[in-house]
Amino acid sequence: MSRIIAGFSKMSKQEKIDWLTDNFFENSIIAKETLQQYWSDDRVLQELHDDFIENTLSNFYMPYGVAPNFIINGKDYAIPMVVEESSVVAAASLVAKFWSSRGGFKTTIISTTKVGQVHFMYKGDAKGLQFYFDKMKSQLLRVTEPITKNMRIRGGGIIDLELRNKTKELANYYQIHVTFDTKDSMGANFINSCLEAIANEFERPDIEIVMSILSNYVPECLVRAEVSCPVNDLYENDAALLAQKFIQALQIANAEPHRAVTNNKGIMNGVDAVVLATGNDFRAVEAGVHAFAARDGQYRSLSHAEIKDGVFKFWMDIPLSLGTVGGLTKLHPLAKLSLELLQNPSAEDLMQITAAAGLAQNFAAIRALTTTGIQKGHMKLHLTNIIKQLDATENEKAFLIQYFENKTITHNAVVEKYKEMRAFD
Ligand code: MEV
Repeated sequence: MSRIIAGFSKMSKQEKIDWLTDNFFENSIIAKETLQQYWSDDRVLQELHDDFIENTLSNFYMPYGVAPNFIINGKDYAIPMVVEESSVVAAASLVAKFWSSRGGFKTTIISTTKVGQVHFMYKGDAKGLQFYFDKMKSQLLRVTEPITKNMRIRGGGIIDLELRNKTKELANYYQIHVTFDTKDSMGANFINSCLEAIANEFERPDIEIVMSILSNYVPECLVRAEVSCPVNDLYENDAALLAQKFIQALQIANAEPHRAVTNNKGIMNGVDAVVLATGNDFRAVEAGVHAFAARDGQYRSLSHAEIKDGVFKFWMDIPLSLGTVGGLTKLHPLAKLSLELLQNPSAEDLMQITAAAGLAQNFAAIRALTTTGIQKGHMKLHLTNIIKQLDATENEKAFLIQYFENKTITHNAVVEKYKEMRAFD
């Protein structure tokens, strides 16, 4: 039986579900029920979601949480986070509270430039091409004017375009490298439309346009987040020793790619959660961030720490191309709500909030890893989850939590202890 189908996209949602559940599932009734279970009763809302992508069958829920008590540049925030991993929101909340009494997070926008490129092949003389580009440059800008009009009113638009000779990297390969300021929008559509207009105008029989597309590598769309405090305010005991360990952990991540990837993954736990909650493109952010982490040829830690004159400082620079208008930001009701919760930030504000969430997450991970280890916290949560599945009374719950304080937590061990307790009742 072939499961290759023509005209799938033309089928109704129900027809798609019927065909899929008949052909791919042992129990088509359960598969149908599972898909339908996540439909919204609100028809308008469901249609909105159906139209975000193609061939929509259902909605895939992710938890929407919030980490309160963030102080960023003196302003307080409750940060919305969409993430499926337990402990992430708890860690962000704890760390936000911790730093709120130590001056909070300081963030700065370093730059906001985005990039797009027209990639093309040209076999002729490089000087002649440069002459043609210089002659065409103002015309290339002119053809984008209808597209850039509104953006220019908002203070953005094309910053510059230059011809780049890439023939050392690849024979006959050149590009028009265009820089943009897209203000409060992430700007993907805007950039791509400008590039296509430029490419059309630039094309000649001896210039073979290969493609025109924005780059998700945005090292010039950069934000810094940092926290600092006197070393002795960092830990209750052994502050100098533990702060040193914290710094060593980041030095290791800087020197060793295996650790660097995990360190940065911890940062992205916070970053992606905010990016998702605000309807931004997490794949673009992920791709750009990791390329930035490898910008000198080795994948390194994004974050760093030092002690100077008795003050501990922890910081990172991170490229974040985000928008607070356009895309899903105002279309998805929860993304819109997230932006409202964040007091309707500009794209620059959102870059700073997101960076703070990432740094908070990294702080929580490094602090735990260099002191108790992360399993203690994870296991505590694991224990709570196991106990939740048991029909335990409040007293029994308290007993189990205390009993397993210093013991290895496994599902089996908890259930056995619970049964033992009950047998004695
Ligand atoms: C887990 O999601 C993230 C950590 O592994 C990050 C880290 O190791 O720094 C805890």
